[in-house]
Amino acid sequence: MLIDSHCHVLSSEYDNVDEIIKDSINSGVEKIIVNGYDLKTSKEAVELANKYDHVYAAVGIGPSNVTDVNDETYDIISKLAKEAKVVAIGEVGLDYYWNNENIGLQRRAFRKQILIANLYGLPIVIHTREAVMDTLKMLKEHMVIKKGVFHCCPLNRELVKEALKLGFYISFAGPVTFKNAKNADEVIDMVPLDRMLIETDSPYLAPEPNRGKRNDSRNIKYIAEKIANVKQISLEEISKITYDNACNVFEIKN
Ligand code: NI
Repeated sequence: MLIDSHCHVLSSEYDNVDEIIKDSINSGVEKIIVNGYDLKTSKEAVELANKYDHVYAAVGIGPSNVTDVNDETYDIISKLAKEAKVVAIGEVGLDYYWNNENIGLQRRAFRKQILIANLYGLPIVIHTREAVMDTLKMLKEHMVIKKGVFHCCPLNRELVKEALKLGFYISFAGPVTFKNAKNADEVIDMVPLDRMLIETDSPYLAPEPNRGKRNDSRNIKYIAEKIANVKQISLEEISKITYDNACNVFEIKN
């Protein structure tokens, strides 16, 4: 029983998207949440969710894709948010690593999409990179009613502490398995089991032992194994716990 709570099944990355989905489901990944980060990928996520029972979608404009957005963009995101299989607004957030020259635009997009999430009673999926303080500040200024998830959460103790305090879930991806992830164990230890999610963030960031290869949802088991090791519980237990947590935050019937 495993759920990949965040990935991107992009037609531009895989020769056959349907095969990737089917292979993942056949290998024991029971549910997959496909996230968009711009209009094209958000629409693709909804199409996949409508096609497969096991697939759900999150829609949103990510911080690295805010340059061409306008009011119409948000209207389309709002329209997509109303679809039955859309379970979150995301990924959204701030990324000053890839671009720190459009911070104003990034903040505006984040704020706008928090409003959309609140309007439709959806949680948000947050991407934050080199922008921890601003992300936390914005979440304190603009309350997200249904909370959400820090996806591929940076291994930053202060962020994890504050995110938990604000009521968010913490989702771990491939980087916690990397041999050079110095404080992975310590950060995993900080997160109570009832606030923990796992994800592949595929096609990026494949976990060990597949680091460097193209990632897909079948690798979720390696992230589950890592967490199980640190928390000293079985793989079955962590799979069930993170499955239930994801169903909880995204209001999916399990
Ligand atoms: Ni992502």
